[in-house]
Amino acid sequence: ARFRHYKWDVTYQYKSPDCFKKLIISINGESPGPTIIADQGDTIVVELKNSLVTENLAVHWHGIRQIGSPWSDGTEAVTQCPILPGDTFIYKFVVDRAGTFLYHAHYGLQKEAGLYGFIIVANPPNFTEPFTYDYDQRIILNDWYHKSAYEQGTGLSSIPFGWVGEPQSLLINGRGKFNCSLPSLKTGVCNASNPECSPYVLAVIPGRTYRLRIGSLASLSSLSFEIEGHNLTVVEADGHYVEPFVVKNIYLYSGETYSVLLKANQDSSRNYWAITNVVSRKPSTPNALAILNYIPNDAQTLPPTVPPTGPLWNDTTARLAQSLAIKAHGGHIIPIPAKADRTIVLLNTQNKLNGYTKWAINNVSLTLPHTPYLIALKYNLKHAFDQTIPPDNYDSENYDIFNVAKNVNTTSSSGIYRLKFNSTVDVILQNANTMNANDSETHPWHLHGHDFWVLGFGTGKFNVSEDSKKFNLVNPITKNTVPLHNYGWTAVRFHANNPGVWLFHCHVESHFFLGMSVVFEEGIEKLGELPSTILGCGETRNHHRP
Ligand code: C2O
Ligand code: CU
Repeated sequence: ARFRHYKWDVTYQYKSPDCFKKLIISINGESPGPTIIADQGDTIVVELKNSLVTENLAVHWHGIRQIGSPWSDGTEAVTQCPILPGDTFIYKFVVDRAGTFLYHAHYGLQKEAGLYGFIIVANPPNFTEPFTYDYDQRIILNDWYHKSAYEQGTGLSSIPFGWVGEPQSLLINGRGKFNCSLPSLKTGVCNASNPECSPYVLAVIPGRTYRLRIGSLASLSSLSFEIEGHNLTVVEADGHYVEPFVVKNIYLYSGETYSVLLKANQDSSRNYWAITNVVSRKPSTPNALAILNYIPNDAQTLPPTVPPTGPLWNDTTARLAQSLAIKAHGGHIIPIPAKADRTIVLLNTQNKLNGYTKWAINNVSLTLPHTPYLIALKYNLKHAFDQTIPPDNYDSENYDIFNVAKNVNTTSSSGIYRLKFNSTVDVILQNANTMNANDSETHPWHLHGHDFWVLGFGTGKFNVSEDSKKFNLVNPITKNTVPLHNYGWTAVRFHANNPGVWLFHCHVESHFFLGMSVVFEEGIEKLGELPSTILGCGETRNHHRP
């Protein structure tokens, strides 16, 4: 195992990823940021300099469990104080498992501003993967807003509520195409021939097989990705091998990664379109296009066909079917504990709080404390956050998930769930109607510090006695992010065996911002001294351990 040392300077830059010029947050001048490439067991050291001048920063390593290094999880207010402008913070963690992971900013709405990228961890040399391929390629998907993270954050925390709206563009490897000929645009802000927004080109050699590692870090959108005329064989999800299955298009929810195999086995005299489109919300965002270029055709030659339009945005059945199709690969099943010690049912609702719009879990909208939980718990700073423990259930007898709640008011708290160390926990995510009639949204839920087994998905209200009988305990996939479908439920199980404090939240950035999150603590007493670099805010202002 080696040390991999990265020096990242985080700055604002003018960039035009979709041809529209905007201030974006870059790493060493790039967005998406550089890919971290490592071998299993390596130690990653990222020296992160916050050169944003007027803005705090924190970066999260999404899918890395941070075993023994919970202070490197990069979640501001949970595991560390924000990195102040001008400061350098050193993240140090071991990548203990091979697979495809992500990183992104985890302060305010900074992910929206462009700080995101891939972490690719390779297997040890003697390891044989359950599939073969000739080349390894990466596709990172995102949705893109022209409004700044500040404007979005201000709207979300105002009365009247200012919703972020649908994104202006989708990006494939940081490239999209906004319509620069709209008459409302000021001159000079949008340039359709800017090379920064020319479509991404994936060049392939006829006859070869490509492993495409695809990840989504969309702020809002659920996405579909497909390549015209080619099937994709899904082989990996969130760093775990899956029983291969073939799809025409793959659905990705923010925070998920997949590897798919692509065979360059079509008519090689031409190029093809690769597209991503919005699903689950009625889209007003144009699809992003990339080019699959068969070598030696000219890479810039557009395919002779009309691009595919992707699946229908409201085909929930197809999305649920893909979720259900994902099973652990037969040779790579991680044995699952037969039953849980504790079951937590989390109802997802959209609410009002003193006139503000919020999202809440079991009628608690999470407010993040000023002193990070990890520090407050370790040093027993009881008044740093709410000591009331949030509920393990909601009024499931009486709550009607199919209609707007009679009383949409909620409460807010910074209270957390305390898990018994080494216990097995089931979480049932229960979706419901929003504050608008006939509307229920998709929420991708991401757990920090762990992978979980995906026990099942269903529609309607989870029924303990019926639905828990149908849990997949044979070959459930392990993941770190999973969708909660419209009007449905999703059940996961995890082992609370990683000492630390961990967020479990909706990966839609604005939903998280509006309180759609819970916090789990386990084994805090097992942690030694915390690094002093995570201190410096709230009750640890003076940088001294209390
Ligand atoms: Cu990728 Cu807390 O998120
Ligand atoms: Cu959500």
